[in-house]
Amino acid sequence: SGTSEASAMAGMDSPPPTAGPEPKITPFAVRMPVPPTQRPVAVGDGMDVYHQTIRVVDEEMLPGLRTSVYTYGSGFVGPTIRARSGRPVIVRRTNRLPVRTNTHLHGGHVPADSDGHPMALMEPGESRTYCYPNEQPGATLWYHDHAHVLEAEGVYRGLHGFYLLESEDERYLGLPSGCYDIPIMLTDAHFDANGKMIFITDDGGGRKTLLANGRPQPYFPVAARRYRFRLLNGSNMRIFRLNLGGQVMTQIGSDGGLLPEPVEQTEFVLAPAERIEIVIDFARYRRGTKLVLADGDRPVLRFDVQWEEEDYSRVPDTLRPLPRLSDGPTDRQITFTSNLKEHKFFIDGKTYDANRIDAWVERNSTEIWRITNADAAGFQHSMHLHLVQFRVLDRDGAPPWPGESGLKDTVLVPPNTSVRIKIPFDGYRGVYVYHCHMLDHSAFGGMMAQFQVTDYLNESNER
Ligand code: C2O
Ligand code: CU
Repeated sequence: SGTSEASAMAGMDSPPPTAGPEPKITPFAVRMPVPPTQRPVAVGDGMDVYHQTIRVVDEEMLPGLRTSVYTYGSGFVGPTIRARSGRPVIVRRTNRLPVRTNTHLHGGHVPADSDGHPMALMEPGESRTYCYPNEQPGATLWYHDHAHVLEAEGVYRGLHGFYLLESEDERYLGLPSGCYDIPIMLTDAHFDANGKMIFITDDGGGRKTLLANGRPQPYFPVAARRYRFRLLNGSNMRIFRLNLGGQVMTQIGSDGGLLPEPVEQTEFVLAPAERIEIVIDFARYRRGTKLVLADGDRPVLRFDVQWEEEDYSRVPDTLRPLPRLSDGPTDRQITFTSNLKEHKFFIDGKTYDANRIDAWVERNSTEIWRITNADAAGFQHSMHLHLVQFRVLDRDGAPPWPGESGLKDTVLVPPNTSVRIKIPFDGYRGVYVYHCHMLDHSAFGGMMAQFQVTDYLNESNER
């Protein structure tokens, strides 16, 4: 386990990248793959069982070059697990990497022992069984590495995949489904001329190649009909500003699943780990049209409208009501700061300590947390809490951004702003983490903390 950790840690102090020239990338030269859907090894009485072997493989990400990636299956984007609300899934994972790992189901309402806490590790050669009850509404979740300090490099090198949860109510809405329901993982990478992925901490300038499902600026052939796209920002540090050249996209979902009603937008801000679900109706365009999804003005992916097709899908005016939340008496203030000289990022003045509980919360209570980014260095930070789906109440007292009014598990907190969120701590007891999802901050800068959900608050654990 030493090598990768050492190389990752070395990145903090080492001079800027000496990786040499980058490979030349021609946009729209390769087709975007759709990650394969994983088959269960057993379909039991009321549950599905999966096996995943976590290992190193070679993949042709850039045309003509081999890239060594970490994987949960066979490629840079792991296999998609499709699950149904109310039907548990069991995933047995075996670590065949040369380094420690573990797996977190991001956005999942999961018991603490299956959550993928950063200290619940699999050493090389070890296996672990994760149980996912799926007692939550349909949503675009994802699973990824969360081994303490190693997760930034692990996720960067490919330890991520989609976990698509579908609930009964969703089936009757008539949204595009089957091969018209496409997960897309957006990431960035720093390649050397031979196609090797370079990992250097806080390598904002180096991670220049934009990838959609692990391919550089690919194209994707579509029919002239509606598609549902589930976009995930799987990058460590990049904030995507996604647009379709001014064309309208219909947002139907956020991190925790469907919005109460669709929201039309021409641009989406997607911070690391956030998901949006959008519907694009290509029937509005003529055959032969090419539409570029861009991050600002840099192409990410091109949709090529290639053929006509019947379309019986629709986007209803109302999708799914949000669950009601009780009023909680507890208000907390969470503050982000930094010490740039030491390359530390703080939550309430502290870096992560796995032996410390930073917030005790009462099981089945609802709390309001006000998160303030007071980082004098002006960095973007985000807030992700394990276990829960929360609501964004306001941004500096103003309404949340459009499309942010649904269920969320990650929220961007720009410099010198505050965001208030309302969090239901339902169901499970135990220790969970909350952290900035700019993974280089949480892994190397210590920007992570822990809450413990308990049935009994007393003097020793009360705030
Ligand atoms: Cu997506 Cu604690 O992680
Ligand atoms: Cu951060």
